[in-house]
Amino acid sequence: MNKANEPTLARTIKVRASATESAPRPKRGAVTIVEPYRIKVVERIRRTTPAQREAALRKAGFNPFNLPSDKVFIDLLTDSGTSAMSDVQWGALMVGDESYAGARSFFRFEKAVRTIFGFPHVIPTHQGRAAERILFEALLAKGRSVPSNIHFDTTQANIEVRGAKALNLVKDVAYDPDDPSPFKGDMDIARLEKALDRGGENVPLVMLTVTNNSGGGQPVSLANMRRVSAVCHAHRVPFFFDACRFAENAYFIKKREPGYARRSILSIAREMFALADGATMSAKKDALVNIGGFLTFRDDALAGRVKNILVIGEGFPTYGGLAGRDLEAIARGLEEVVEDDYLEHRTGQVAYLARLLEEAGVPVFKPVGGHAVYLLADRFLPHIPRHQYPGWALTIALYREAGIRSVEIGGVMFGKMDPKTGRETYPKLEMVRLAVPRRVYTASHLDYVAEAIISVYGKRDRVKGMRIVEQPKHLRHFSATLEELV
Ligand SMILES: Cc1ncc(COP(=O)(O)O)c(C=O)c1O
Repeated sequence: MNKANEPTLARTIKVRASATESAPRPKRGAVTIVEPYRIKVVERIRRTTPAQREAALRKAGFNPFNLPSDKVFIDLLTDSGTSAMSDVQWGALMVGDESYAGARSFFRFEKAVRTIFGFPHVIPTHQGRAAERILFEALLAKGRSVPSNIHFDTTQANIEVRGAKALNLVKDVAYDPDDPSPFKGDMDIARLEKALDRGGENVPLVMLTVTNNSGGGQPVSLANMRRVSAVCHAHRVPFFFDACRFAENAYFIKKREPGYARRSILSIAREMFALADGATMSAKKDALVNIGGFLTFRDDALAGRVKNILVIGEGFPTYGGLAGRDLEAIARGLEEVVEDDYLEHRTGQVAYLARLLEEAGVPVFKPVGGHAVYLLADRFLPHIPRHQYPGWALTIALYREAGIRSVEIGGVMFGKMDPKTGRETYPKLEMVRLAVPRRVYTASHLDYVAEAIISVYGKRDRVKGMRIVEQPKHLRHFSATLEELV
């Protein structure tokens, strides 16, 4: 870290204290965001030298996805499958029942899912995208459309491979990084009504992603969910949640929506799901496990079709794509994730990191979402034009500075070639996501991350644009290679 730009400890502590003032506070008047757990097992992480990082970057073709994890010091690439499990979850692994059919662990898992979601059918899958694939194979035909606030990229891909269309109908405010509205994940109801009026029979389901990952991790209000539900049911179209981060969304409802401050997270989650007909879930997020997912819904006729597809591609209906021990860990994770102190700390950590950065003038997406801080890369690096991928350049600068891995959500991930003009078009926002894994990093890790980013911000004019050297046809960000422009 450059000495001139390095914040002093005193400054860090000052920023940290003020950051916590607007972040959600723990109960009983304390100011520090204190971890509601203590550490029983540790995993060694190693700092690398600048020369090692430089070599790793070149070997990886300047693509953070190609970096080996032991060359990364703080890994903020994703919050998916990266949670630390509790002692109780680890204990539950030992009582996993690995019977092929009718395993005890399945019934525990089914009960835990029903307690929150309330739907009769519970189908385990190996992760979220398997639940999506199975649901769409059962419901989608060519030419159909599936509206959502914003589909996650795997959801969109699973819709498009069936020849159907993924419609993103989030309110426009979602794309304004400065608008402080509390529920920027809300669906635009007028546009949803129009889509259903125009061709209700062509829409086999409507989805709502909570929180809205591709739109800055922003929550959806219960008022908006109620309206989506009413419109869907008036048109006899099933309404499904993409529920990966349902607990974080429920927490924001408790904190931000009038009338919910005294309600438990569990009761808010139940109120959400009572409005819907089903949900897809990646347990790698708000079930606090490293692998797993499920599909849960009301419709008996759909259950038969789904189970047939499941048996062909995933496994028998009482294990899906999972081991009995995985089902046990999910069951326990679903109980832990709705606890207030867990969510207070979880969302507090993300808010804390955002505040440290904002205090130093680093441009971030506002308000802060549930699982990640999003840097506004085009404002951070205004000298790099969109066609030189400022977001990607920023991910490289953060790794080079301090071994921090982040992910670009901008021109490389979502850029598209316009076949008419032969020119690349770019998404509205050029961002870098710093996803915070659940229960993994402490406040000092976040201080370290903030210090590194602030240091890069201090010498931002030295960061160079990027050029793509090689790219695959689909999902190019995963495997493209790039180089820095001189
Ligand atoms: C909103 C959303 N939906 C679906 C998925 C897919 O889940 P999985 O990675 O378990 O397949 C993700 C994963 O990040 C997600 O964030």
